[in-house]
Amino acid sequence: MNSSLGRSGALAGAALFSFALAAAGGGVRPLTANSAGPLPGYSGAPGDSDCTACHTTNPVNSGSATPTITAPSVVTPGSAHVVGVSITGNQNPAKNGFEITLRDAAGSFVGSWTTLMLPPLFNAAKTQTHPFNAGYHEHSASGNTLSAWTMQWNAPTTLAPGPVTLYAAVNDADGDASASGDFIYVLSKKMFQASLTSPSSTWGLGALASLVFSAPGRAGDYYFIAPSEDPTPFPLGGAMELQVNPLTGFTAYALSTPTFFINLTGVLGSTDSATGYVYVPPVPALSGLSLHFAGVTTNATAVPTEVSNRFTALFQ
Ligand code: HEC
Repeated sequence: MNSSLGRSGALAGAALFSFALAAAGGGVRPLTANSAGPLPGYSGAPGDSDCTACHTTNPVNSGSATPTITAPSVVTPGSAHVVGVSITGNQNPAKNGFEITLRDAAGSFVGSWTTLMLPPLFNAAKTQTHPFNAGYHEHSASGNTLSAWTMQWNAPTTLAPGPVTLYAAVNDADGDASASGDFIYVLSKKMFQASLTSPSSTWGLGALASLVFSAPGRAGDYYFIAPSEDPTPFPLGGAMELQVNPLTGFTAYALSTPTFFINLTGVLGSTDSATGYVYVPPVPALSGLSLHFAGVTTNATAVPTEVSNRFTALFQ
């Protein structure tokens, strides 16, 4: 069944371990067949290993395929979130696999996974929550023929402050039914509790564009919407990261130019939200410029209490 077992002692050990699990589980499913769904703990999340522990041919993230996690940029406590994992440009579109988990800002898995039945595949059997660790969701035996999978993460009704992060490991397999020859990728995606939106992501020169910042439960906190030309996240302590770099000089310029950048700081109102405005100067040279924005709330002693997604506007 498993032609690769002779290749390394580590693999053989792992296979023995899997066999022991299968025996303990009464042989409910063939756990030696990693192609039918890998063991938990290989997602690439903090504290986890990734699939290169056994799929050793290529270093992690060394291939030329493009893996993607799709998920809403904002997390809503108590609600279901559709999450997608996919890979394009892969060596063998007919054989792939993945494992995904999530961490809240305190570092724990929270919520639960649900397998979705979606047309046209009605792929109930294409993904599964791992039977021994409900924090992990992954491809199933029949799901390893897909290059894209869709599942659901159900958020708990209360969350620790800060974003939650999805972590996935994706196997661009060659389809030879062994652990060799495969390319492994790890990637992550954040979902934020505070949201920053604008009615349009293209802003006309001379227009007055609005930015709505909402941080549920944070009425009375100070807020700051930082504009920057640099979308590099900036650490604010712990899991809190401002999703733009405020140290490039542009943020300071914006704050000192209240004619163009209006209400970017203040106190969140009773609706937990505030609206900032940007008057886009009618200067043709600005056409084609992308400007990034991200929000943060703080308490009275300037300790961050929430951070938002990054919103990017294109001047046109
Ligand atoms: C403990 C060792 C081990 C780990 C960790 C592991 N695998 Fe595997 N995997 C194997 C072995 C052995 C095979 C070949 C036997 C089989 O097909 O199940 C394999 C095969 C596969 C295949 C089919 C490969 C092909 O070319 O036909 C896929 C897909 C797969 N694994 C996905 C994953 C993913 C995704 C991860 C990480 C989340 C992972 N595996 C982690 C041992 C492992």
